[in-house]
Amino acid sequence: MTPFKNRITHLFGIDYPIIQAGMIWASGWKLASAVSNAGGLGIIGSGSMYPDVLKEHIGKCKEATSHPFAVNVPLLYPDIDKHIRTIIEEGVKIVFTSAGNPKTWTRVLKEEGILVVHVVSSSKFARKAEEAGCDAIVAEGFEAGGHNGREETTTMVLVPAVVNAVKVPVIAAGGIATGRQMLAAMVMGAEGVQMGSRFVASEEASSHIAFKNTVLNAQEGDTVLTMKQLTPVRLIRNSFYEQVRQVEEKGAGIEALKILLGRSRAKKGMFEGNLDEGELEIGQVSSLLDRILPAGEIVKKVWQEFTGGLQNPIRIL
Ligand SMILES: Cc1cc2nc3c(=O)[nH]c(=O)nc-3n(C[C@H](O)[C@H](O)[C@H](O)COP(=O)(O)O)c2cc1C
Repeated sequence: MTPFKNRITHLFGIDYPIIQAGMIWASGWKLASAVSNAGGLGIIGSGSMYPDVLKEHIGKCKEATSHPFAVNVPLLYPDIDKHIRTIIEEGVKIVFTSAGNPKTWTRVLKEEGILVVHVVSSSKFARKAEEAGCDAIVAEGFEAGGHNGREETTTMVLVPAVVNAVKVPVIAAGGIATGRQMLAAMVMGAEGVQMGSRFVASEEASSHIAFKNTVLNAQEGDTVLTMKQLTPVRLIRNSFYEQVRQVEEKGAGIEALKILLGRSRAKKGMFEGNLDEGELEIGQVSSLLDRILPAGEIVKKVWQEFTGGLQNPIRIL
């Protein structure tokens, strides 16, 4: 497979503009290094890690790959200054920030020579991220798994809007799992794609096998964006979601939701495989997934579909 040249592959020093999303309880060093070794960009998801765990994952990732990799930092993380210190001390070169104000940490990271990419769900926040000095923007549509924008803007609408709003390269995310979907995103002006759900269904994802199998079995309509009062999140409808729905239907406020959510719902569902009581974050695209593959094979398959699509993009009679 011939390496591809555009602003994203150039910026990160990778062969293909395929980025494996940072994901709590799924993307540790094994997944990130497998994707980076295959020529994409692997991301360690630090949102579910204590600072010492993050340090260990960065160390193992450096041993497992000589290719570039990144760390995702949700900006609402309580011990964020410790994560930032670890990232700087360990010599991480690329950081993807999300869920918060990019103003706070972008300058600090950039002063250390680190590339910063911020995830947004609107063109307004894309402009703010560019003003804050970000090197690229992830435009993440409403289809995406995990935390998501309140406005419910789909990838199809968000990507061209963000491309129009900023000059830095845009990476499309949300509902992308195949090479043809990647091609569609690139036709709309994206210069790379970030895929989360597709990589949950990989051998190297640290997610529990029961969760991975639930993802493979998911049908259209099985995920929902919920807890919009608190922090909107797309997850699979299960009995935990039913409890959330009932609490919301009674008109209970944020505090009631916080109590129901507790501290370890996400870990319980996605890492420990408690399919009833846990929070099962996944995107709409789960309905297209039918097998667990090695992450490197996913990169290869998506890229081959993408290049095949480039040669024969549309059906003509
Ligand atoms: C299981 C799971 C966990 C996620 N955790 C995070 C996270 O910790 N930080 C973050 O910025 N985004 C997180 N996301 C969102 C992804 O980074 C990514 O943008 C999204 O999955 C893209 O949409 P897709 O699932 O349709 O591919 C998560 C997504 C999933 C499915």
